Amino acid sequence: MPISTKFVAILLALAVGPSAVSVVAQAQDDASNATAMTLNETMMMMIMTESPTEEVIPSEESIQVEDEVTTPAPTPPPTDAAMSFGSVSMTLPPRTPSPTSSSSQPTSQPTGPPPRSCSTTPVTQTEIQTIRQAIETVIDNANVNMAPKFVRLGFHDCVGGCDGCVDMSDPENAGLEVPIQALQEVVTTHENECISRADIWALAALVGADVTQSQEDFDMVWVGRQNCAGVTDPMSGPVIQMPSADMDIHGLLGFFNDEFGFDARQTVALMGAHSIGKVDEDNSGFVGRGWDDDEEELDNDYYQQLQDNVRWNQVNANRFQWEGGDGGSGDADEDGIIMLNVDIALVRDFSGDMGSDGRVNCRFRNGGGGGGGGGGGGGGGNNRFVRALQNNVCPNSSTRSIVEDYQDSNSQFLSDFHDVFNRLLVHGYDTSSGCSTTDPCRFAGVPQEGAQVSVGRSGNPDDIFF
Ligand SMILES: *[C@@H]1O[C@H](CO)[C@@H](O)[C@H](O)[C@H]1NC(C)=O
Ligand SMILES: *[C@@H]1O[C@H](CO)[C@@H](O)[C@H](O)[C@H]1NC(C)=O
Ligand SMILES: *[C@@H]1O[C@H](CO)[C@@H](O)[C@H](O)[C@H]1NC(C)=O
Repeated sequence: MPISTKFVAILLALAVGPSAVSVVAQAQDDASNATAMTLNETMMMMIMTESPTEEVIPSEESIQVEDEVTTPAPTPPPTDAAMSFGSVSMTLPPRTPSPTSSSSQPTSQPTGPPPRSCSTTPVTQTEIQTIRQAIETVIDNANVNMAPKFVRLGFHDCVGGCDGCVDMSDPENAGLEVPIQALQEVVTTHENECISRADIWALAALVGADVTQSQEDFDMVWVGRQNCAGVTDPMSGPVIQMPSADMDIHGLLGFFNDEFGFDARQTVALMGAHSIGKVDEDNSGFVGRGWDDDEEELDNDYYQQLQDNVRWNQVNANRFQWEGGDGGSGDADEDGIIMLNVDIALVRDFSGDMGSDGRVNCRFRNGGGGGGGGGGGGGGGNNRFVRALQNNVCPNSSTRSIVEDYQDSNSQFLSDFHDVFNRLLVHGYDTSSGCSTTDPCRFAGVPQEGAQVSVGRSGNPDDIFF
């Protein structure tokens, strides 16, 4: 697919594949049967990424206001956002027994302890706490803001089903090596028959969300995620293509519903992960700092930025992005707060008004226009033109009222984010049995083909996201 025109990974990862793909995994929880495990699967995973790619930071002069811009170009860049969108279509090789399962074969295990049975010796909350503390130590000792990176890793890993593998050759995943490498020692130390690398990555994502806010406890409820098989390096997982950040509200809701079964409210809540997102100018085509005032705190400030009175203006800085946040100062260079099309889509419906390059042809609000203080002025000769632009305001999005709910209540946002993030981190697994115990529960199994996990979609992705 014409990838070159769409991509921008940002926020949450979206996955779209040219062909429908389903993830099928058959697994047996019982370690004693691990050797008999037969996995047939085509797994598509979407991964989010920070994309790398080109990167030229434009000079101020090169940043043009939407009205003056024509086309950019684009490329795919990703950002260092906590989550990004991307479409992915991957086919994993047939799964093969994992090293741990093969090592448990009776014939080849003359010595050493017998494999642990996850049903008779289940994972305990105490065990999880030990790993949790190890992860917190990693966060505390890191010289970068690691928590959001763990959140992002969890998102990327779980698109298509959480399996502890990402493909670092995909530029959209740029930057994920940082959290993966940071977790390597924890994985090496604590991974066992009953706690997989995929579980530890999910736990790190939970810890990342936990430490960036104080209202919710992001507990580890489920264990038993299966690492992807067939690869020895967790960074050489299946290729994934992220969907574009240039999506309107229909594309956004469609993706999350198709991929995760999320409804509009859950999708809007998950987008709040941008609250701890950070734009990495070295890796992405976007220019700015992040989505809200404090990328170290998971809160509703992201939604606050989407208020009507903020003079959001689309500009072309490498690629189309929106500037003018932070109460409408209109000075993106100063506050560094930007929004992408997929963010603005939560409150403005520009369906049919966005070009393939991401340029949106309707305005965020009436009047108050022009970025920076320069706006108003235009001489008499431009009045007609200006008026025409002012009237061309994008209509409200269907999700606007949900954004307003979160603007009004940080507590409501955190509560909803907690719920949807937990759902994200069990993507691809059967939780229908529920879990009411204090200790983590094991998944009943992995969905069969045609079950809930279906990452790919048929048809032209352009029809879906643009
Ligand atoms: C292991 O798998 C076999 C065949 O699927 C099944 O009959 C047996 O009950 C399983 N054992 C356990 C402990 O689950
Ligand atoms: C595994 O895949 C092969 C090839 O598609 C198929 O013939 C076989 O029935 C599958 N096995 C199981 C257990 O699904
Ligand atoms: C959008 O919603 C706001 C709040 O309900 C309302 O004041 C405004 O008129 C709406 N705009 C459009 C174009 O419907």
